[in-house]
Amino acid sequence: MANNILKGKRGIVFGALNENSIAWQVAEKCVAEGASIVLTNAPVAARVGQTEALAQKLNAPLIYADVTKMEDLDALVTQSIELLGGKLDFVLHSVGMSLNVRKKVPYTELNYDWMHTTIDISAMSLHRLGQVLWKHDAMNEWGSIVALTYIAAQRVFPDYSEMADAKSMLESIARSFGYHFGKQKKVRINTISQSPTYTTAGSGVGGFDAFYNYADKMSPLGNASAESCAEYCVAMFSDYTRMITMQNLFHDGGFSFTGISQELVESIGDSALGK
Ligand SMILES: NC(=O)c1ccc[n+]([C@@H]2O[C@H](COP(=O)([O-])OP(=O)(O)OC[C@H]3O[C@@H](n4cnc5c(N)ncnc54)[C@H](O)[C@@H]3O)[C@@H](O)[C@H]2O)c1
Repeated sequence: MANNILKGKRGIVFGALNENSIAWQVAEKCVAEGASIVLTNAPVAARVGQTEALAQKLNAPLIYADVTKMEDLDALVTQSIELLGGKLDFVLHSVGMSLNVRKKVPYTELNYDWMHTTIDISAMSLHRLGQVLWKHDAMNEWGSIVALTYIAAQRVFPDYSEMADAKSMLESIARSFGYHFGKQKKVRINTISQSPTYTTAGSGVGGFDAFYNYADKMSPLGNASAESCAEYCVAMFSDYTRMITMQNLFHDGGFSFTGISQELVESIGDSALGK
């Protein structure tokens, strides 16, 4: 259903590791909608991911950059502007990692070296990216920066652990930097809070099947897929959403505003009664 709504736009897409990655879908949809993109991922993704295959498929340059390193982000932004032939119209931040979550360390016993890394990769990276884009005056007016987040920033999901704290910070950075970017450069920054999605990062969270099934039963529309998330990202990069900034936008089939669903009432009622 491509409508060329990103025709002539240039962007950078972070975080397409494999076909399941939300960023993979976003990259494909952006190109289908007429955009030119640069793909980027952590240097380690060259070994463990398939970003290279996507770059070939989309005929897009691939520049490896670690989001915790200013020099990597500097080089990425400078080279992207050169390769794409002009300033950027959109950037997708689709990056997250937590060793404490991956190694199932209880929230009450976090390893703080790992927590530093989690916050650096998953939250501060949006600030670093913003600062590099700002310093290079790399964004066109009315450009759009989107970062992906999860509702554990607002409500407790115990197994999401320190990632909840990182996501709260990420959403706050989007608001704070969004103010400055809006005022001075007419650029918008938003976070999209996505349903649980089967990806490498998602499936690393303990009890992910339960998260997924519970959210699916709770949401009037069911869980939002990676593909539909990509469509929302495209909309947020387009000129049709120019006055939306500093928002956390729920893309979750209605999960965030549902108290309980009929399906859950019935299944919990039955099990509580031993049925
Ligand atoms: N999957 C879900 O259930 C879900 C739900 C809501 C939000 N999100 C968010 O969506 C985003 C994308 O995750 P995903 O689910 O597609 O999983 P994913 O594992 O496919 O993507 C995570 C990406 O982060 C990259 N990354 C990790 N460390 C990096 C570093 N130092 N430098 C650069 N890149 C680095 C990885 O290489 C990978 O490409 C994350 O922010 C995640 O928290 C995911």
